[in-house]
Amino acid sequence: MPGIVIVGVQWGDEGKGKATDLLGERTDWVVKFNGGNNAGHTVVIGDEKYALHLLPSGILTPGVNPVIGNGVVIDLEVLMYELDALRSRGIDTSRLRISANAHIITHYHRTLDKVTERFLGKRQIGTTGRGIGPAYADKINRVGIRVQDLFDENILRQKIEGALDQKNHLLVKVYNRRAIAVEEILEDLLSYVERIRPMVCDTSLLLNEALDAGDVVVFEGGQATMLDVDHGTYPFVTSSSATAGGAATGSGVGPRRLDRVVGIVKAYTTRVGSGPFPTELFDEDGDRLRARGFEFGTTTGRPRRVGWYDAPITRYANRINGITDLVLTKLDILTGFDRIPVCVAYDVDGRRFDEVPVNQSDFHHARPIYEELPGWREDISGARTFEELPSAARDYVLALEEMSGTRISVIGVGAARDAVIVRHDLVD
Ligand code: IMP
Repeated sequence: MPGIVIVGVQWGDEGKGKATDLLGERTDWVVKFNGGNNAGHTVVIGDEKYALHLLPSGILTPGVNPVIGNGVVIDLEVLMYELDALRSRGIDTSRLRISANAHIITHYHRTLDKVTERFLGKRQIGTTGRGIGPAYADKINRVGIRVQDLFDENILRQKIEGALDQKNHLLVKVYNRRAIAVEEILEDLLSYVERIRPMVCDTSLLLNEALDAGDVVVFEGGQATMLDVDHGTYPFVTSSSATAGGAATGSGVGPRRLDRVVGIVKAYTTRVGSGPFPTELFDEDGDRLRARGFEFGTTTGRPRRVGWYDAPITRYANRINGITDLVLTKLDILTGFDRIPVCVAYDVDGRRFDEVPVNQSDFHHARPIYEELPGWREDISGARTFEELPSAARDYVLALEEMSGTRISVIGVGAARDAVIVRHDLVD
């Protein structure tokens, strides 16, 4: 079972680390195929805590080969910073490989991200401000700068000139900012050339050869289904393909090589930034979930919006991604609630929707229709088999499984790496 995709089901921060940890020792390659340093994961190994934004988490596991695929946008300063931070703590980072076709986030992308958000005012998306959207916009507009351009100074200069030509008009005339000099960008990007050179290669070739050899390749999706640029709550989304299809285009591997699609879903829901969120809570239950689940952004530190579990969203994610297995995370955070509401459908201005409405304005008006399930009070963090869970917790999982239409193969019951219940193996 060599090609395994991991995707978020909701709006991100579902705790993908639980799945990558579980696969850890059996993984040969971990590929990041979308996004950039807008993601954030904290990995705890022993007493050490590592905060990664750009690098795939597999870089911390000895023997795993981490890859940054062509679908990623790379901020070179962040890349070097994260590599230096790991090296200074004795982590071997020499196995990292980077696609020659990945795009680069420059200073002008970061600037544009911040000024356009400010300009949008009330309509702002609440981006992470890392330049992600503007870098992908340049890619699609065919004025982006790719990693391979770094190795030809003439081409690099021409491309920066081409990109800045337009952008400086925009920055100065529309946004009232100073123009950015070509030399400033050129000098900055060239300063990374020698360090990045040994890491750059044709990662599509590398990964296809690995799959030919029977290696286990894990394709780790950043963000999540509802933040996907095509299938998410557009325009309140990120700018990349965060769904399973993105694993193929973002890494140069054919879809038939993706054998398993693992969807990570939290036992409740969270979201950072703006956009519709039908089950959002503004009451004490919400405060309790946020505090107990420690729901604050890893990248921006913003308090996350929180709400109850939304079954139509999981069904939707199943359909979009072709999920084979669900990993249900943070079940322990629900311990202590007497009743746990679960959204089973929506009411949109008096009409019932059993599935996520295709029209954005309907989704903005969607009110959750809840079914209430009984809660439990017992501490479940020590449970390692399904039978060890209190019966109400088991029933909660079984109800979610039935509503979602896909088996829940793994259940996260605590913060510790091994605090999981495995019902079905994710590799075999
Ligand atoms: P961007 O990716 O910085 O352009 O931000 C677009 C939207 O995606 C914003 O609502 C962000 O809060 C959200 N977002 C981006 N990355 C993540 C993530 O890793 N977890 C959760 N939300 C994210």
